[in-house]
Amino acid sequence: CGIVGYIGYREAYPIVIKGLKRLEYRGYDSAGVMLYDGENLKISKTKGKVADLEERASKEISINGTIGMGHTRWATHGVPNDVNSHPHLSNSGDLAIIHNGIIENYAPLKKELIKRGYVFHSDTDTEVLVNLIEEVQIKEKLKIGKAVQLALNQVVGAYAIAVFDKKNPDEIVAARLGSPLAIGVGEGEYFIASDASPFIEYTSNAIYLEDGEMANIRLHKPMKVRKIKDDSLVDPYIQELQMNLEQIEKGGYDHFMLKEIYEQPDVIRDTYRGRLHANEGIIQMSGVEDNLEKFLNADRIIIVACGTSWHAGLVAEYIFEEFARIPVEVEYASEFRYRNPIINSRDVVIAISQSGETADTMAAIKLAKEHGAFVFGVCNVVGSSISRETNAGAYTHAGPEIGVASTKAFTTQITVLTMIALRLAKAKGTMSNTDFHRYLQELEIIPEKVKEALETNDRAKEIASVFKDAPNCLYLGRGYNFPVALEGALKLKEISYIHAEGYPAAEMKHGPIALIDEHMPVVVIAPKQGHYDKIVSNIQEIKSRSGKIIAVVTKGDTQVRELADYVIEIPETSDALSPLITTIPLQLLSYHIAVMRGCNVDQPRNLAKSVTVE
Ligand code: G6P
Repeated sequence: CGIVGYIGYREAYPIVIKGLKRLEYRGYDSAGVMLYDGENLKISKTKGKVADLEERASKEISINGTIGMGHTRWATHGVPNDVNSHPHLSNSGDLAIIHNGIIENYAPLKKELIKRGYVFHSDTDTEVLVNLIEEVQIKEKLKIGKAVQLALNQVVGAYAIAVFDKKNPDEIVAARLGSPLAIGVGEGEYFIASDASPFIEYTSNAIYLEDGEMANIRLHKPMKVRKIKDDSLVDPYIQELQMNLEQIEKGGYDHFMLKEIYEQPDVIRDTYRGRLHANEGIIQMSGVEDNLEKFLNADRIIIVACGTSWHAGLVAEYIFEEFARIPVEVEYASEFRYRNPIINSRDVVIAISQSGETADTMAAIKLAKEHGAFVFGVCNVVGSSISRETNAGAYTHAGPEIGVASTKAFTTQITVLTMIALRLAKAKGTMSNTDFHRYLQELEIIPEKVKEALETNDRAKEIASVFKDAPNCLYLGRGYNFPVALEGALKLKEISYIHAEGYPAAEMKHGPIALIDEHMPVVVIAPKQGHYDKIVSNIQEIKSRSGKIIAVVTKGDTQVRELADYVIEIPETSDALSPLITTIPLQLLSYHIAVMRGCNVDQPRNLAKSVTVE
């Protein structure tokens, strides 16, 4: 979920609505707003998107007031409907809350509150929390800040909340545990949001609350930040924001996803800038240099991640083992954290996360640290929770990724991980000098090749028009391109809702081959380098069962062209770096299919970009 709040001298409504639109990547199945105009506390909320909320709010309430809060939801407790949308009011109607996260012990708390006469209108855990705050406030005759604090000390779970009390109307109380929360500090005004994007045009000063901290944000008074547990005051660190407005707008593209696909040549360059010096034969990443011994002494590397980041981890497994000869295991963070894994201080754990906020990945990191492992983060969002929790790390520098389906984050993650593997290979002597220099040179010109691969756009569109109504699709690849097949399939299902599966090409004959008939499109990643002959045989197996073959091939290929129904040509690269190129046409193919099917490309149903619940 995404939350936004404003307290100051401007009209809050437009700020909150615009902010919510920027946070819709965090969830978009319902939305709501609260405004206070000095007299009345007004709420409007609805199932649907922020645009639906706008339509409803303008009819339902007067949209004036200089204090406001808003919420865009990704449902956890209770189906997405009007009643379950936030903000939620306490029984007296005085307190309003917006919440991102999960209150795990909501059931016993709710039972207790019902006993005390509280009535609940929604199925949410959030409504329990706001009434718990009210109960504490009334019982102990407290100001809102203190009541929030005491209530939170009874709560188990994760939250970023903002609470407003009509009885103390020049204050918003914000708190965080496990879900991100930024506070924008302006002159005579404050902003609260799940990330800084809602307020970047108003102020570049932001405070990121740490886990277990809360803030009393008061008009015309200095803000107080304290620890929820022991009430001790914290001196908040005001950060200067790096983000700019242009980065979070579409810049002429129809969708953020397309913009982000096209940004890849530039952002891959941003990722290696200052780190890769091909001519001097140097790779330098401070997080790696400072901890080189840890990496070199590692018995193995365990990669933990979710979703697309997990696929980047799989590519990295091939690269690390090949280049640096270090055993690698790649784990879904959600599985790792709950299966009592064997980890010790000789393990290096690499956590990959675009957002740096994924709850499962965060939990996996904490577990690994408890067992004494050294944890290295590969994150995109600067200052994110994971980037702070890890012992060291390297940012991907891809800039804000807003399309829910990850694209540029994936290729920049692979870029960072490749650089780490090369650095370790050099230190360990597991790669010849010639190869090392060759890879550095090649990585340096990868952005040019990605650019060339983007020229497949028209071809991808043409093929999309043929297969847009397919109910299923299979993606096959081998070696480095097996994870690319998984990622290709994930992209298609995420945004077009076509059922798609990725498989190692050779594994097809052990099951998926049963699915192949003349209606089944099969996307085969078949670049010249790698296991070309083997994959040609796999293509033949599909062909002889009448499957429709869409092959991604190296420019000038003739053999696969003869067998395939459609080919997409990409520039030649070495096998190990090919995922950076082969991924591009697959992103474009999914994009066009989704557009042609009328799907909401940037905000696919049921998904969220940043999953801060487990
Ligand atoms: C969500 C997103 C995916 C993303 C995954 C992991 O499911 O929709 O695109 O790959 O989370 O996110 P992270 O921010 O940790 O990379």
